[in-house]
Amino acid sequence: MDSETNKKQIVLSLVQPTGTPTLGNYLGAFKNWAKMAEDYDCLFGAADLHSITVRTEPKDLKSRTIEIYAILLALGLSPEKNTIFVQSQVPQHSQLAWILNCYTQFGEAARMTQFKDKAKKYADNVNVGLFSYPTLMAADILIYQSDFVPVGEDQKQHLELARDIATRMNHFYGNLFTVPAPFIGKAGAKVMSLQDPTKKMSKSDPNTKSFISMLDSPDVMVKKIKSAVTDSEGRVYYGENKPGINNLMSIYSACTSKSYEEIEQEFEGKGYGDFKAAVAEAVVEELKPFRAEFDRIINDRQYILSSMALGAEKAAARAERTLSKV
Ligand code: TYM
Repeated sequence: MDSETNKKQIVLSLVQPTGTPTLGNYLGAFKNWAKMAEDYDCLFGAADLHSITVRTEPKDLKSRTIEIYAILLALGLSPEKNTIFVQSQVPQHSQLAWILNCYTQFGEAARMTQFKDKAKKYADNVNVGLFSYPTLMAADILIYQSDFVPVGEDQKQHLELARDIATRMNHFYGNLFTVPAPFIGKAGAKVMSLQDPTKKMSKSDPNTKSFISMLDSPDVMVKKIKSAVTDSEGRVYYGENKPGINNLMSIYSACTSKSYEEIEQEFEGKGYGDFKAAVAEAVVEELKPFRAEFDRIINDRQYILSSMALGAEKAAARAERTLSKV
């Protein structure tokens, strides 16, 4: 709550509807979204325009957008109390993005590590959209005068660019935008791959054993965690050269709220088998209520579509205010 105006502070964050979200998306972002939904004026949604920066089948994009929207509802986010929307249904985002492009230096955009990584990964389709991806993301954030943006560690650089663009335009034209602050949780901010714990857990990894999908069955989750790559030391503690164990400890900590010290004590004298079993159980328990809600909501297409329409209407009315000012 802003003490001077008594108004709730504004929170915005989006997720791309490419593939079913992972435990990384959940711990790095969604878990914080659900926590913030009560105390802040929150806008959350599906960034489908960002997803077309890589080749996508229109049919898949549509069904994934519906799935991700149902996931947001199943997290307990309320389309009435908050604003839950699909980016492409609010055209003001793209309109503002064009203007922001004209206040973003080529060199700034070229420094983005995600662009460099994706340009390598999708070398046959390094399109201009992929390059200006962060200015659309800045538009998503700035158009609602957002105070906080809850994201995982990997989005921090994009957020810094959004802050730089906002500060620059405010300097030229007076107070156009609130300069947003990142909100990055301690545990779970960067969940790593279960098969190569030096790489981020990603839903587009071709090795499906490397990530836990939020819609995996409990059995599959347990199997994947049990086959996670660790080390040969056999002692559970957070330390250098233990990326696999560090990752599992971060996951366990995010699910149970236990500190690393508490976890080290809990597993003193025990092996990785016991530890992995406990991590798997914690993950399954953590996602259980979500899963029950999702199974209910995904079958209620009418509710999903009417919530989307409500979200688009609420979001567009707010977005229009900033756009006309700009
Ligand atoms: P996306 O769709 O890749 O991921 C959605 C959210 O999940 C977080 N995340 C992770 N956190 C921890 N560990 C991981 N392994 C992991 N993988 C993903 C991301 O940090 C993100 O918070 N560009 C954004 C979507 C976006 C956006 C925005 C976000 C578009 N416009 C405006 C915030 C504000 C993206 O691709 O996230």
